Amino acid sequence: GDVAVLVPAAGLGLRLGPGGPKALRLLGGEPLLVHAVRRLALAPSVGCIVVAAPVDGVSSVQDLLAPVAPVVVVPGGATRQASVAFALAAVPAEFDIVLVHDAARALTPPELVEDVAAAVRGGHAAVIPVLPVVDTIKQVSDSGIVVATVDRSSLRAVQTPQGFRRSVLEKAHASATDEHTDDAGMAERIGETVHTVTGSEMALKITRPLDLEIAALLLRQ
Ligand code: CTP
Ligand code: MG
Repeated sequence: GDVAVLVPAAGLGLRLGPGGPKALRLLGGEPLLVHAVRRLALAPSVGCIVVAAPVDGVSSVQDLLAPVAPVVVVPGGATRQASVAFALAAVPAEFDIVLVHDAARALTPPELVEDVAAAVRGGHAAVIPVLPVVDTIKQVSDSGIVVATVDRSSLRAVQTPQGFRRSVLEKAHASATDEHTDDAGMAERIGETVHTVTGSEMALKITRPLDLEIAALLLRQ
């Protein structure tokens, strides 16, 4: 494959509650990171995987993933953005397309990886998977008073993998001054057009305990 995938996996998983770094928490008996990397490796486009691991867990993550897929493991940073930047610096020069994929989206199907990769290959410099927002969204003041009801029809929930022409992702990270929750946000900041493709319910981000329960149900299907 002609695509490198960066996997930020160095987060603490605080919202999931006690139990250690989220990427190493178990789902159906295997760490979330194993699920995520296995599905990435099943995507034909993927030729390189770089994981940003918890700083004290680099060698254990290497051992964990060795039987799953060939991966490069680097120490993560204090923020997701820093973890992505460290992983990006470890991508071999021959890869011109780079995807960024959260370990926490452990059940993301290889087909979605292919869709994002194909859109970048087809000429879009930045590509994100999105789904419609299901809830009514309101803007609320600090004191809890509704300020406005936001028109939901143009809103989308954003997933990963997010795909980029490598030069665009590098420029976005080099130019970022403040902290962003996704990589496309940094690309927008430098004026890049971000293209969307249809996301997947299976690409849910495991964030809170209920998400882990839902993922366990999805895994059994
Ligand atoms: N991540 C990372 N380095 C960090 C923070 C987050 O690599 N310093 C990764 C996480 O491991 C995760 C992804 O970024 O795969 C998305 O972050 P999030 O869902 O917020 O995970 P955590 O930061 O681990 O969770 P929490 O915010 O609840 O502590
Ligand atoms: Mg976090």
